[in-house]
Amino acid sequence: MTRLPLILALACLLAACDQNMDQQPRYSGYSRVPLFRGSVLRPPPANTIARDDLAREKSAGSKPALTPELLARGRQRFGIFCSPCHGAGGDGTGIIVQRGMPRPTSYHDDRLLAADDQHFFDVITNGYGAMYSYAARVPPADRWAIVAYIRALQLSRHASLDDVPADERSKLETSP
Ligand code: HEC
Repeated sequence: MTRLPLILALACLLAACDQNMDQQPRYSGYSRVPLFRGSVLRPPPANTIARDDLAREKSAGSKPALTPELLARGRQRFGIFCSPCHGAGGDGTGIIVQRGMPRPTSYHDDRLLAADDQHFFDVITNGYGAMYSYAARVPPADRWAIVAYIRALQLSRHASLDDVPADERSKLETSP
């Protein structure tokens, strides 16, 4: 009888040795750990470059030629990544803004009409004020496609009949 506590203690100790793959220690991403004096997710060391970054940024410099395919791609990517806040027409009244996000300047504002393509590209790459960067989600080629589509959106409200090719003009004039 006097041995019972000893046996129990031994049983507990042996149970603790049974740490197999069913039960592994784990941390969730933002847990703080003494080893790092911070969260488990470590920021990349200063001045390091991820493997694909250089190739990505190299392609950022070359603005592609304007083609219907580029515009179609830009329209699709804009619909996915930008319209939730900027709205389908670029007025800044997307669904997220209706739910409380600060309203961005309309793309049809005089300042943004006058801004060059690079400004739009840079906003997507680096973010702007309350808007975060889309560099990780939108590769450079798609950023240029989106910029081209934003230009088309802007033009759509400022075009005159003279901008329409002559053979298409008659269609507009005769349509009801
Ligand atoms: C989650 C909401 C949100 C999304 C998604 C978003 N933006 Fe924005 N954007 C904003 C807000 C908010 C501002 C205004 C920021 C400020 O002035 O502080 C802004 C500002 C801008 C501006 C204006 C910069 C200026 O000079 O005033 C441009 C251009 C822009 N965004 C482009 C884009 C493009 C292109 C995309 C898609 C790749 C995009 N945004 C996606 C919220 C968003």
